[in-house]
Amino acid sequence: MNSTPAPRVRPRRLRETPALRRLVAETRLDPADLVLPVFVREGASAPVPISSMPGVVQHSLESLPQAVADAAAAGVGGVMLFGVPEVRDARGSGATDPGGILNVATRVAAEASEGRLVVQTDLCLDEFTDHGHCGVLDPLGRVDNDATLERYREMALVQAASGSQLLGLSGMMDGQVAAVRDALDESGFSGTAILAYSAKYASAFYGPFRDAVESTLEGDRRTYQLDPGNRREGLREAMIDIDEGADIVMVKPAGSYLDVLADVSAASEVPVWAYQVSGEYAMIEAAAAHGWIDRKRAVVESVRGIRRAGADAVLTYWAVELAEWIRKGD
Ligand code: PBG
Repeated sequence: MNSTPAPRVRPRRLRETPALRRLVAETRLDPADLVLPVFVREGASAPVPISSMPGVVQHSLESLPQAVADAAAAGVGGVMLFGVPEVRDARGSGATDPGGILNVATRVAAEASEGRLVVQTDLCLDEFTDHGHCGVLDPLGRVDNDATLERYREMALVQAASGSQLLGLSGMMDGQVAAVRDALDESGFSGTAILAYSAKYASAFYGPFRDAVESTLEGDRRTYQLDPGNRREGLREAMIDIDEGADIVMVKPAGSYLDVLADVSAASEVPVWAYQVSGEYAMIEAAAAHGWIDRKRAVVESVRGIRRAGADAVLTYWAVELAEWIRKGD
């Protein structure tokens, strides 16, 4: 009789029970490895919902302390602040005004955090410029790399003085890490750390974020953000930033760039983070609202996949809710 021999190798053995599966799990989620992005709107008297990001709001300066306290209570590792100014101009003056929304919010958040989590700030001009680009423009309307570096240096000093511990350089200008590092060191802020958004791709998944910050951008960012098809270039950008002194490097978006994340994670000597961006959030929320996917499972799986690919920490709009699930053990 010709029967198939019984398999000698049975990987399923380790999947038999929940306890076994838990014991052999390769990737665990920890609230400390999550960072919550937070929007703060100038002039708002109450939180303003963001329609393309259900569950996410633009905070007012009054509602911000509670949001920071809630994140800290959930065990979240940090908050990343974004400002939404009332007035914008060509050079993004609000970004370097100590009374500008982001800098005021930083002081408020730093106080509310009571040292329980890390207060971080987006260092980029796009929320503050009337043309919506991440830098200042030259007379022909092109983003002027080196003139922008001067603005970033000024922003860095104001943000550090306002109490940001970690500056998130998201503008994708060449030389931005070195420029900001020098500015900080020359002004007595050698203890302020730099998170370089190193491999930041020109992505459609930032769509809802642009609603969240009421972006005025026309056109696109393809002359400075990476071409989505380029893998090697993502790694190169991260290596350049580490060389320039980045304390942490980041890949963004996360879900569609897990190969880049794995490459950077394998090669990096500094922590590697990933940003699960607004469009990634909106897609899961929208599908779940239709009853097409299980919301909680999809959220957990999406963040676990990003961690598995090599992210040491993840920026995600679900940070607080996810942290609570993790703490409750579900
Ligand atoms: C730039 C910045 C952007 C995001 C974070 N920082 C927008 C952009 O480059 O267009 C996107 C984050 C998200 O989509 O969640 N200040």
